[in-house]
Amino acid sequence: MGLSIQHLLGLDGVSREDITLILDTADSFHEVLEREIPVVPTLRGKTVVNLFYENSTRTRISFELAEKRLSAGPINFSSSTSSVNKGEILRDTIKNIEAMKIHMVVVRHGAAGVPYFLTQCTKAVIINAGDGLHEHPTQALLDMMTIRRKLGRLEGLKVAIIGDIFHSRVARSNAWGMKTMGINVVLCGPPTLLPQHSESLGVPVTDNLEEALDGANVVMLLRLQLERQSSGTFPSIREYRDRYGLDLDKLSRLPEDVLIMHPGPINRGIELASNVADGSHSVILDQVTCGVAVRMSVLYLLGGGGND
Ligand code: CP
Repeated sequence: MGLSIQHLLGLDGVSREDITLILDTADSFHEVLEREIPVVPTLRGKTVVNLFYENSTRTRISFELAEKRLSAGPINFSSSTSSVNKGEILRDTIKNIEAMKIHMVVVRHGAAGVPYFLTQCTKAVIINAGDGLHEHPTQALLDMMTIRRKLGRLEGLKVAIIGDIFHSRVARSNAWGMKTMGINVVLCGPPTLLPQHSESLGVPVTDNLEEALDGANVVMLLRLQLERQSSGTFPSIREYRDRYGLDLDKLSRLPEDVLIMHPGPINRGIELASNVADGSHSVILDQVTCGVAVRMSVLYLLGGGGND
């Protein structure tokens, strides 16, 4: 059986069966990545456009790598070097790209809802690589894959997501996806960086760090999105670091086998001390490796794999 969804626009509403299929398939692709020649012919003849209107290192490179590992043909679009700079609107851009006979589009955009909008303009499969403050579904999938590989399960674990929740599409996708998978998620940050309508996320939200960390199996720090702050959201970077940043002292009060995660890029010395980011509890680089396998899985399954 394949996926019940045609596009991956977010994890809100995606079923436990679909998430499990993506994670199981990603585990198989993780083994492919260990081979001497880590390439399979699965998407030979398919063209995937990576449409990035916002900066990215991990997501962009791992999607391109995943496409190459599946033998698809990646085409990279960067808004900064495109005709967007001559005033072309998004609808015209996608219509022109579609006319070149492409099959799938991976899109990152600063506006929430752009992936959905593209499904209304093209017949291509759309994969959301991050839209505004809305969702970043493949990040949440790779986070769950990393946790499952390290701890052997998802159901019943406690995951504390700490930091700039308000601006975080990673927190939103993880809240929805992890809840579906039976994880007890708690979101924590300064009151000014918590979402106003947090009840729609369906998970507890608190500004009390001790409460959030109590009994956590996994602690995920989020980047303080300095470029998106309005003034007055927190008194100073130093106070934010002291209250909500994870350092060795706070780590020493967590369980022996706790996992430390971060989606990247890290503000070292703000939300996460360098010696914790690089320490033995950190699985940050495992997250990046799982990212390639998860993106291979999503591309494969949405490209028709698993339907036979
Ligand atoms: N985690 C993440 O989305 O990183 P990039 O912005 O570098 O893609």
